[in-house]
Amino acid sequence: MAEENTDGEAVEARVSALLGRMTTAEKIGQMTQVNAPGGIPKDLQSQVQAGQIGSMLNVVDADTSNEIQRIALEESRLGIPLLMGRDVIHGFRTVLPIPLGQAASWNPDLVRQGARIAALEAASAGINWTFAPMIDISRDPRWGRIAESFGEDPFLMSAFSVAMVEGFQGDDLTSPGTIAACAKHFAGYGASESGRDYNTTNIPENELRNVYLPPFNAAVDAGVVSLMASFSDLNGVPASGNKFLMNDVLRNEWHFEGFVVSDWASIEQLTDHGLTANDKDAALEAARAGVNMEMASTTYADHLAALVEEGQISIERLDELVGDILRAKFRLGLFDDPYTDPGKFPELANIEHLAIARQVALQSLVLLQNNNEVLPLKRNALDSVAVIGPMADAPYEQLGTWVFDGDPDISQTPLTAIREFVGDRATVNYVRAMETSRSRSAEFFEEAKSAAAKSDAVVVFLGEESILSGEAHSRANIDLPGNQVDLVRALSETGKPIIAVILAGRPLTLLNIVDEVDAIIFAWHPGTMGGPAIADILFGAESPSGKLPVTFPKMVGQVPIYYGHKNTGKPAIAETFTHIDDFPVKAAQSAYGMTSHHIDAGYEPLYPFGFGLSYTQFSYSDIHVSSDEVRLGEDFIARATVTNDGDVEADEIVQLYVRDLVGNVTRPVRELKGFTRLRLQPGESKTVEFELTTDDLAFYGRDMQLLVEPGEFHVWIGGDSDAGLQTEFAVVAD
Ligand code: NOJ
Repeated sequence: MAEENTDGEAVEARVSALLGRMTTAEKIGQMTQVNAPGGIPKDLQSQVQAGQIGSMLNVVDADTSNEIQRIALEESRLGIPLLMGRDVIHGFRTVLPIPLGQAASWNPDLVRQGARIAALEAASAGINWTFAPMIDISRDPRWGRIAESFGEDPFLMSAFSVAMVEGFQGDDLTSPGTIAACAKHFAGYGASESGRDYNTTNIPENELRNVYLPPFNAAVDAGVVSLMASFSDLNGVPASGNKFLMNDVLRNEWHFEGFVVSDWASIEQLTDHGLTANDKDAALEAARAGVNMEMASTTYADHLAALVEEGQISIERLDELVGDILRAKFRLGLFDDPYTDPGKFPELANIEHLAIARQVALQSLVLLQNNNEVLPLKRNALDSVAVIGPMADAPYEQLGTWVFDGDPDISQTPLTAIREFVGDRATVNYVRAMETSRSRSAEFFEEAKSAAAKSDAVVVFLGEESILSGEAHSRANIDLPGNQVDLVRALSETGKPIIAVILAGRPLTLLNIVDEVDAIIFAWHPGTMGGPAIADILFGAESPSGKLPVTFPKMVGQVPIYYGHKNTGKPAIAETFTHIDDFPVKAAQSAYGMTSHHIDAGYEPLYPFGFGLSYTQFSYSDIHVSSDEVRLGEDFIARATVTNDGDVEADEIVQLYVRDLVGNVTRPVRELKGFTRLRLQPGESKTVEFELTTDDLAFYGRDMQLLVEPGEFHVWIGGDSDAGLQTEFAVVAD
């Protein structure tokens, strides 16, 4: 029955039949989404009865949700169920690492499973729609919302975009436990000027199409039910009123059949942007551009009827916009059953869900430095370990941003996990040392130093609290805040091996600690199970395998800095100076080269995209492309052999990059085109094959058409964006 009702033609027939019975007011009702946290007041109930509401957000109680769906179904004239939306961004009760951390796993299958458990937990509370995945390319770590995204690269982002959509939506949208996804924020939000949230973006169309739009295109191809329009101004036309984005690209080129929701009051804000003079004009622009549903503000509810009456919005246009929403409700099977029965769902945060969260956290940890192989700590050879720092035992902070439904009481912190791991074999000397990451006081540093001095190794947990990243929480300075660097310096005076574990919502500038510590693990905000995952890595139960999904700058002035940059006419050469103090006075202007770099930072980042160390060493050999000349339209294979040269079994993320040497628009110096996670035993070798077609090399050229040009290509296969064996091939015309 459900299948029959949700297949394409049957759905279209039901949508038109229903539209035929609706009044204009009822249609506008479907386009209205209201915020309803903490219960449904009487006036909202009567609005639902009157068919004035199509969706609610932030209802998270199963009984309330069921009751409101009952009112919609049984007491409104047409019985149209509601979409119940919520920001389920990286888990529900079981909190997974922040998305940027999940991206560091380079494991879309695992991320798909994470989204699947988030959907199950959310659906049990009556939620049928999540405002995720957030797939804004971001090359600016100052931007607080980089935490929610999968980083800087279109290819990697697209892989996670698809994985998340599949995880939330499953392969049958009508089955209990699948929820509609919402790819956001369409589009370009991650390019906000200087990383200030909500700010202006200016992105040439070519760059938009080659970099910012592909993850959305991938989500649409994966069947995402909805998209959210961005708050930001794109090239002078704010996204929520941007017809080019929502009509020309999304509907006409990509044939999207879902619906677009505004962001919170982003239609009303078209007037703040200065695109429109008042709410009525804002409603007109947004409806014309193609925003189907308005979140939180009421310009549609207040003005669409008049706009239709005046003929400014045609009935056909209104029907298209409403039809997209109804189609989604049919596809989700809500007309047949909009209710939830928590008793039929697995328990929230059950053992299996926690195990997945732990696995994602484990694979997201990136080992950035490991001098003299100080890690892993040898559990049996240690009598004592000092655990220091404001993030060692911070159950709420390790969850990260957007954790409305998370529960810090179930967080397993690094301190607890380390204690559990060492049991009574070693003493754990814990000193928090700083109240928060931002504390300025050095009051407890002496205590921390003596704990360090009497221990065999020191693990210091640094970073930033969850409130320092996320929406509207951008930073201009991305150093470790407060007195943390001084704390590290104090600890390093003890001469003990120091391992810094950093919990943060963004890349931080770590230059001022790299020489003070022996090892650095970047842990992001790792979620509920962050502690055990970190302990597993510290003590070598598993080798680190995470790789950076975003470039780490040496200093903030390098931003934006990303691996897929253009070559420029004067590309940087080997770094001469990276510190301004070293720069000679009165040198001739051109004495040290005339190339694209900073005289006080060089041109290299601190850690490149794709970088991450392991407890073993991998070597690459025998890179080979199946043909030196590939005809346009043909398949080809790029392969290389990877060997585990160490004595530890470990995963390696093998990465494939290409460079198109000449293009009708200039092409990046490298572009990720493939990756795979490979497990190798000590001494074992495997040949990795990437199957490609010349279409994978396509880009938008000068006339905004997708094209592949014959010519020379370089190929690298290796362990990060700065390394790898290189070979080349040519694409030839057929
Ligand atoms: C504003 C945020 O930009 C968006 O990502 C979120 O989904 C909505 N608020 C709803 O909370």
